[in-house]
Amino acid sequence: MKKGIKIVTIGGGSSYTPEFVEGLIMRYKELPVSELWLVDIEEGKDKLQIVGDLAKRMVEQAKVPMEIHLTLDRREALKDADFVTTQMRVGQLKARIQDERLPIKYGMIGQETNGAGGLFKGMRTIPVLLEIAKEIQDLCPDAWLINFTNPAGLVTEALLRYGAHPKVVGVCNLPINTRMTIARLLGVDVERLHIDFAGLNHMVYGLDVKVDGESVLPQVLELMGDPEQQVSMQNIAPIPWEKEFIKSLGVIPCPYHRYYYKTSEILQKQLEEYQNGGTRAEVVQRLENDLFELYQDENLKIKPPQLEKRGGAYYSDAACNLISSIHNDRGDIQTLNVRNEGAILGLPVDSAVEVNCVVTKEGPEPIHVGELPVAVSGLVQQIKSFERVAAEAAVTGSYEKALLAMTINPLVTSDVKGKQLLDEMLEVHQEYLPQFKGQIQHS
Ligand code: G6P
Ligand code: MN
Repeated sequence: MKKGIKIVTIGGGSSYTPEFVEGLIMRYKELPVSELWLVDIEEGKDKLQIVGDLAKRMVEQAKVPMEIHLTLDRREALKDADFVTTQMRVGQLKARIQDERLPIKYGMIGQETNGAGGLFKGMRTIPVLLEIAKEIQDLCPDAWLINFTNPAGLVTEALLRYGAHPKVVGVCNLPINTRMTIARLLGVDVERLHIDFAGLNHMVYGLDVKVDGESVLPQVLELMGDPEQQVSMQNIAPIPWEKEFIKSLGVIPCPYHRYYYKTSEILQKQLEEYQNGGTRAEVVQRLENDLFELYQDENLKIKPPQLEKRGGAYYSDAACNLISSIHNDRGDIQTLNVRNEGAILGLPVDSAVEVNCVVTKEGPEPIHVGELPVAVSGLVQQIKSFERVAAEAAVTGSYEKALLAMTINPLVTSDVKGKQLLDEMLEVHQEYLPQFKGQIQHS
């Protein structure tokens, strides 16, 4: 008889892990996980220990027989895993600070998953994840790889296109958060609310919103345009949308669309933050220090509420719901990053898209959408072009491809400055970009 479920979390020392552990504890009856392996690297050893000790106190307090294993040996952990979740940050927060600060210096948006910052986070991350995909293929070929590592859309694109392991799903907390926020605004129970999501990760639109199966889209668009009712995430400034614009757009943008439709307002805000040493990465660094301080308290045996200040709050619902639906062959609908397979017309069939899927023991199956509305399909296609070129740059280490990816990104506003920024970022991040060795053009 098969033992219980084995989950491996790579980047286990992340400050988010207690939320995942809480999610598994809450679902223990439907999802009896017997082993959770938290894996990290040498530089993350101390964080892993602190988070791992908290995880052990949490399961003990909850009286759930889930073994917590801590290791720096990825291969040891992966053996016979059923699910592998990845949530690491190559180069850690100090690399994110560069991703968010350097573009601003050149007058462009600095953000960890969009623009130049997203490109570099992707190029640092993709080779590591491709290596992990190979190891999974070798050590636990039946396991699902569930990736949270940002930029999740670009990373999923690379894993699907170049990866050795086909059972890959990209996840994000944004669709779940949006559903919760809109349900709250409408004053209805979240279970009654359904949103037809389609697009790409952090570039997803709500094409329709239904309560008990009836569309309430016009009402929601009205609420979205109301400056008193801002729908955003902890990590994105809730600058109000233009009422008329949202109405004429006719679909629900995601909080990240502010970077594209409000570029100058966000840039202005970022310039102010930049001068005061307060980019999101730096705010997060302080939040993380506080969290790790709390985690070390031996009397703490639950996930502290302060974790909800992070933009990724509720990420564990996305992960746990997915794992549970695969395990229980549930057949419910979840918004996931999967191979398009023709669900969204106008995007490559073999590219990653973020779309509603039916989740069974076979994994997620995308629900057919058809064409996206004309007003949004162009931007989505442009971002997909960027992701494909960026994935190729990450895999090949080609300077030309990296320059191309940089320049075609809509948030990179000049080819000249884009090249200067590329050169500076390649240099700053070189330790984590071995594939570009010998290609870095020193200025
Ligand atoms: C959102 C995104 C996550 C991202 C997070 C950043 O929730 O969906 O993918 O990791 O924000 O939050 P942070 O607190 O790190 O700025
Ligand atoms: Mn996300």
